[in-house]
Amino acid sequence: MPYTRWTIVTGASSGIGAEIARQFSAIGHNLVLVARRREKLEALAAELTTADRGAVEVIELDLARPEAPAELHAAVGEKGLPIHTLVNNAGFGLRGDFVDLGLEEQMAMIELNVSSLTRLSRLFLPDLIKRGQGGILNVSSLAAFQAGPHMAVYYATKAYVLSLSEALHEEAKPFGVTVTALCPGATESEFGARAGMEGSRLFRSGRMDAQKVARIGVEAYRAGHAVSTPGTRNKLVMELNRFLPRVVMRRAAGAMQS
Ligand SMILES: NC(=O)c1ccc[n+]([C@@H]2O[C@H](COP(=O)([O-])OP(=O)(O)OC[C@H]3O[C@@H](n4cnc5c(N)ncnc54)[C@H](OP(=O)(O)O)[C@@H]3O)[C@@H](O)[C@H]2O)c1
Repeated sequence: MPYTRWTIVTGASSGIGAEIARQFSAIGHNLVLVARRREKLEALAAELTTADRGAVEVIELDLARPEAPAELHAAVGEKGLPIHTLVNNAGFGLRGDFVDLGLEEQMAMIELNVSSLTRLSRLFLPDLIKRGQGGILNVSSLAAFQAGPHMAVYYATKAYVLSLSEALHEEAKPFGVTVTALCPGATESEFGARAGMEGSRLFRSGRMDAQKVARIGVEAYRAGHAVSTPGTRNKLVMELNRFLPRVVMRRAAGAMQS
């Protein structure tokens, strides 16, 4: 395989991001792996380079810092890496009522899930448009399609990611550049424990395998789709939003967090 293309994956140290990195490596992309836990990124880099799969760069970065996206853009520029694909995957959720969760931890979630994703998209998209190829794969969520009582800010961040991605999909398409929103439902990763969701009805009712979610997402991106929802049950939930009143969908989402 040629390994001439470079793909950045944020949040590549675990879960869906690590699997997305493996998928891109398998189709011949060099990688820039980004997250805070360097040792996890290095372990993945070692795995992918021993498989003789092109180059892998590791960048340890806390993307919740407002300066971090510009630092990543500059670091990649200094190394002279022509980025073909940006995967905005880093993100986290918090389960609990809006008034019970801390203000600062919820603002940090907005900083990572929304602001850093927006900054990175704005920094890298002009280069992609100039070259007329590649694109952005944004990891949103099934949470994007309805309001989420008991996880209000998280659901709202993912609605933003879906809306931004769909709009950018249309703006970038005439230039030969794809923007895709991947909208997984409950998925096996470190997310559930970090969000305090392990005991929720949603997580107890089943989770998809992160590798499968990543494979479907990368395939949808390569096929030029605007939105991808992996899994039959998740697709059904997404479609229900078209037929059922918003009040029904948001109460159902709230019940799944109990
Ligand atoms: N799992 C699910 O049920 C599910 C469902 C729908 C959507 N999603 C979305 O999928 C994406 C990936 O989540 P996951 O399920 O794979 O969870 P995960 O296993 O917890 O992975 C999250 C990744 O984000 C990175 N990250 C967190 N905070 C960061 C920060 N401040 N700076 C840089 N990187 C940071 C983590 O790395 P470090 O800790 O090393 O920094 C980790 O690599 C998220 O956007 C999540 O919202 C997940």
